[in-house]
Amino acid sequence: MTLREKVITEFTDRFGGEPTAIVRAPGRVNLIGEHTDYNDGFVLPMAIDRAAWIALRPRADGAVNVQSLDFEGETQFSLNDLKKGANHWGEYVKGIAWALREAGHTLTGWDGVIGGDVPGGAGLSSSAALEMAVARAFAVTSGFAWDAGTMAKLGQKVENQWIGVNSGIMDQMISAAGKAGYALLIDCRSLETQLVPLPPETVIVILDTATRRGLVGSAYNERREQCETAARFFGVKALRDLTIEQFEARASELDELPRKRARHVITENARVLQAADAMRNGDAAAMGKLMIASHTSMRDDFQISSDALNAMVESALREDSCYGARMTGGGFAGCAVALVKEVAAEVFAARVAASYTLATGLTPNVYVCQASEGAAVVS
Ligand code: GLA
Repeated sequence: MTLREKVITEFTDRFGGEPTAIVRAPGRVNLIGEHTDYNDGFVLPMAIDRAAWIALRPRADGAVNVQSLDFEGETQFSLNDLKKGANHWGEYVKGIAWALREAGHTLTGWDGVIGGDVPGGAGLSSSAALEMAVARAFAVTSGFAWDAGTMAKLGQKVENQWIGVNSGIMDQMISAAGKAGYALLIDCRSLETQLVPLPPETVIVILDTATRRGLVGSAYNERREQCETAARFFGVKALRDLTIEQFEARASELDELPRKRARHVITENARVLQAADAMRNGDAAAMGKLMIASHTSMRDDFQISSDALNAMVESALREDSCYGARMTGGGFAGCAVALVKEVAAEVFAARVAASYTLATGLTPNVYVCQASEGAAVVS
């Protein structure tokens, strides 16, 4: 059964009758541009063919009742009484309702069943997928228009103010605005987006280390503070506003940690723009080199990689069919991403999985992924 069928079947079992709408919002893999989003910089993610799905039907009494295929318990709340609760998946649902209300929307409640295949804690944005799917569900029941940037900002507000992680805009933006067949160059200051195609005859391979991050909200928030310290030192609004030359002229006056964090962000922003050009020029080799440089910068300067992620990237780079690889997402665990020759993708996946297992004793999940469409009502 597909996920779409599963949420529909479960809906009928739990609530009786048919759902009136099905919505879907994808996870994402970031090709390059890590921890640049909250520095007002550039990112180059693509929406993946793994997503959160919701089968739903409006209710007239202002209640929201949601069941999950993946997690225990049911989330039930009234739109007139939105209070923070225990931090589990239901808080993302409630948080979106809160943010929509704060933005002035009059909301209609719904019954729904949620199911997804974006692995959690893997750096593929399962929570942004959930948030954007829920926002889509409310757009359907409450009759407001879908504007990707506005909805992404609401999702970010939920992360920041309801969940308590000071994350940037990338994950929600790509989940809301992704386009099938393309990566998206996002300017995280203006939210302008440009479609960027993959180089011909290449594919994106996700390399899941089978390690999961624990509570890294604090490490994430700490990185963000270090970036802000560096921006304040240079007297700029955000690190986006510094060239590498301006940075180097005064870098030695900065403490070690903010210096390293800033160097990552400033060089990474430049790499993202070069990567988008390389992809547009069909230059897989150049794109691959930028991915490798990005990984080194995250490992040594931003210090968000892990032994497992490094082992995975090293395994990938040993293959001739691989142009480049890097860890992806917030860091510390989860997935790496590789740009690979299309004809060799299956062999690449099998060989990298075997070599990673040899190095770490872990069984990874390595698969080719397709760029998919952003959040949408699918029927
Ligand atoms: C997480 C955050 C994003 C972004 C990435 C790192 O996914 O949610 O906003 O900062 O980490 O690039």
